Amino acid sequence: MVDWSKIRADFPTLQRKIDGKEIIYLDSACMALKPQQVTDAITYYYTQLGACGGRSIHALARETTDLRNAAREKIAKHINSRSVNEIIWVRNTTEAINLVANSLHFEEGEEIITTNLEHHSGVLPFHKIMKKKNLKLKIVDASDEGLFSLEDFEKAITKKTRLISIVHTSNVSGTTAPLEDIIKLAHDHDALVISDDAQYFPHRKMDVQKSDVDFSAVSMHKALGPTGVGFLYGKEYLLKEMDSFLVGGDTIKDVKYEHGEIIPTYLEPPHKFEAGLQNYAGEIGAGAAIDYLESIGMENIEKHETLLTQKLFNALKDIPGIEIIGPKNVKDRHSLVAFKLQNIDTANDVANYLDSDVDGYKIMIRAGAHCTNPFHYSLGIKPSEGTARASIYLYNTEEEIKILKDALQELDHLIGNV
Ligand SMILES: Cc1ncc(COP(=O)(O)O)c(C=O)c1O
Repeated sequence: MVDWSKIRADFPTLQRKIDGKEIIYLDSACMALKPQQVTDAITYYYTQLGACGGRSIHALARETTDLRNAAREKIAKHINSRSVNEIIWVRNTTEAINLVANSLHFEEGEEIITTNLEHHSGVLPFHKIMKKKNLKLKIVDASDEGLFSLEDFEKAITKKTRLISIVHTSNVSGTTAPLEDIIKLAHDHDALVISDDAQYFPHRKMDVQKSDVDFSAVSMHKALGPTGVGFLYGKEYLLKEMDSFLVGGDTIKDVKYEHGEIIPTYLEPPHKFEAGLQNYAGEIGAGAAIDYLESIGMENIEKHETLLTQKLFNALKDIPGIEIIGPKNVKDRHSLVAFKLQNIDTANDVANYLDSDVDGYKIMIRAGAHCTNPFHYSLGIKPSEGTARASIYLYNTEEEIKILKDALQELDHLIGNV
């Protein structure tokens, strides 16, 4: 049994008061707070190492290399990848998807399928290369609740489809796509799938061998890890075939200048994709975040959050004047609820109220279009008005949700919804 109340003590931010008020942090879908164990690992790098990994051979460099390799191994094991060579360090989900868009060999006329529920990071990298490589981008629409029907993918896929880019769990509806069915469909058509796991990875057990996904993009900052570090998972045979993305030091076996020509020979993956000296502190911190998640267990985290998601949804759904984005059946969502309130101009006004005007608490949520403008437009919501979003993680409590509900009811009263 996990003692969830003890977990809160690991998060120094939660012990803070701002303007004498307690923090209620409901913005983990944007960024998760960091446990002490993660900041200790980062501090160890900066205070005890501070050296480059890989290039030099002295004791500090060797330890740095060992720790970053260990962190890569932890990620590989955590998602059950076949080899550490399938894990590429990047800055974040956005960079991971850009890497795939730019490095995969596309033939002229090939198609990429994506959806109207994507975070902008899941679609813009492909939109950018589309014209350059003369590709076609097809959009599958989610329902207004953010749910997909496999039939729509079956209708969209053709012999020319090379790749499906799909958000696994949406950061606005909280819905999870039927990824394994989409992967099977794609593979039956010799197409590949990249899964945006920014919102799935922090909350649920991932098994890339079981799902058979070809690529997965993750930001560690949403999973208790440091900022500026994430990873791309890719099947090794695909990574080997792909072009490098960013190039430079550490990506090559050799470079020669011969008869006025530059002749580089690139390393095998993952190194051919990791150009320049790396974010060693971030990678070591990412390893500590994986240790932390494993020490609790992803199944326990998912179970705990499923209960909290129910409490959150039930707390908000009956507030007069509220319009909840995403599924009405709470079983179809995980870890977040985005909403709009009648009689208030923008979601920012809701977020400001919760942050500034609640007695005793600073309630921190996200407001805006959450980098999902197309889905907001499809619901008839202007991105400038946006939606408010409360999102939970393993450190949140039922008590915090109750305080959010009371505060929103008070706001509702002030703006005349009751
Ligand atoms: C579903 C989803 N995809 C992609 C991203 C982009 O992540 P990052 O900004 O860390 O690259 C986010 C971030 O909010 C997200 O929620």
